[in-house]
Amino acid sequence: MDMPTRIHKYEQVATSIAELIESGVLRPGDPLPSVREFSRQRSLSITTVLQGYYALETRGLIEARPRSGFYVQTHLPSVLLEPEISSPPSDPASVTVRELVMMVLRDAGNPRLIPLGAAHPNPTLTATGKLNRILAALTRQSRDVGASYDIPPGPEPLRAQIARRAVTTGCNLSPDDIVMTSGCSDAMNLCLRAACRPGNTVALESPICFDTLQYLEVLGLKALEIPTHPRDGISLEALRFAIAQMPVHACIVISNFNNPLGSCIPDDNKRELVRLLAVHDIPLIENNVFGEICFDGPPPTVAKAYDRKGLVMLCSSFSKDLCPSYRVGWAVPGRFKHEIEWLKYITSIAVPTLPQLAIAEFMASGAHSYHLRRIRQAYARSVAGLLQAVSRYFPHSVRVTRPSGGFVVWVQLPETVDSLALYRSALTEGIAITPGGLFSPTNGYHNFIRLNAAHWSEKTERGIRRLGELIASSA
Ligand SMILES: Cc1ncc(COP(=O)(O)O)c(C=O)c1O
Repeated sequence: MDMPTRIHKYEQVATSIAELIESGVLRPGDPLPSVREFSRQRSLSITTVLQGYYALETRGLIEARPRSGFYVQTHLPSVLLEPEISSPPSDPASVTVRELVMMVLRDAGNPRLIPLGAAHPNPTLTATGKLNRILAALTRQSRDVGASYDIPPGPEPLRAQIARRAVTTGCNLSPDDIVMTSGCSDAMNLCLRAACRPGNTVALESPICFDTLQYLEVLGLKALEIPTHPRDGISLEALRFAIAQMPVHACIVISNFNNPLGSCIPDDNKRELVRLLAVHDIPLIENNVFGEICFDGPPPTVAKAYDRKGLVMLCSSFSKDLCPSYRVGWAVPGRFKHEIEWLKYITSIAVPTLPQLAIAEFMASGAHSYHLRRIRQAYARSVAGLLQAVSRYFPHSVRVTRPSGGFVVWVQLPETVDSLALYRSALTEGIAITPGGLFSPTNGYHNFIRLNAAHWSEKTERGIRRLGELIASSA
């Protein structure tokens, strides 16, 4: 299933300019070479250069000025440094984050708060309205639709659509490889139950989304935090070392647009990760729930594309890109397929039929590609807006990630700032954020916060400005 790494020419244009900006050769406010000049210099078509410039504009690095050309943004999101690779403790730890998590989740349901906390998609960027209309039409066409249990693996039309779409991430799947689940969280839970027994150790990226930590907490599993780079994800060197030191029973990665780091594991590292784990017969549970929300180019490849032994269990859902409340997700569990079907059956029998059929029909229509294009651009603008506001209003010692997909941003505050205290004072000002302590079982990241850029607006910008003042006063 190996796929060649696809880098379009316009991405090369965008990368070469982004490197000039990052290295300071091109500074804020500098003009870019004109499109014509650049196309002549590099023997590229005008369209390719324009596409590259537009990609940089979407990422907030450059701006077009009418009748004047393209310029490096005066308020660059990249003026702040990125956090360094994480350095969590090297012993497995029991997980206890539930109280804090439930507190943060309660804030997520409060419409009076500025929603920079929970990683929920922007409702206006879901496909809920269209899906609801399709669902209503389905019930009019046949009164009996959805009258039976859709026992695992779930409805074939939707599995066929998911298999078709998987080609864009380097996977040749058949509908029979897929088991439908109630969201990505259900898929992750089922995979952990299939791969591990209570007391086992699971290696995972650190920091990691707190939902993942709670799956481990409920199943009585220990978390082994592996150092993780804010751009390239899990450190293979550290993972290799950990596997040599102690028994590791499974590994979890959020391979593309990780929550909270936004990291994307490069293709070569994905291949090597799969190979390394296969040598030791360790299952890899791969979460790709943000994979479709990519800002430039096609969706990134998944580690599953390199799986030869059926040891990679890919988990995803439609919660971030189409509709979180439909609760439709899936697992591609490789050699664990029968176990996953059985576990799904004994846990909740089936996933509701109607939302699955509505999504299948939506995917089969041209509306799906259009929807994805729209939300990718919108989230890219939101993240660029949030990064610009952070660089403008937060103290300059702050470090921040620069994700190329998804919609969350990870911020490292000065050492002296306690993010739990900041979370409490922000709440009293009507601002919801997520404190960093939730992303580690060992209470690391006390001076980090995660911000959700999905609901970007003037109101959220005011929230960032006030947050900057609170940080400055507690630093
Ligand atoms: C990394 C990650 N995985 C899974 C989920 C949950 O997905 P679902 O709503 O499909 O269960 C989330 C939600 O925030 C998430 O961030």
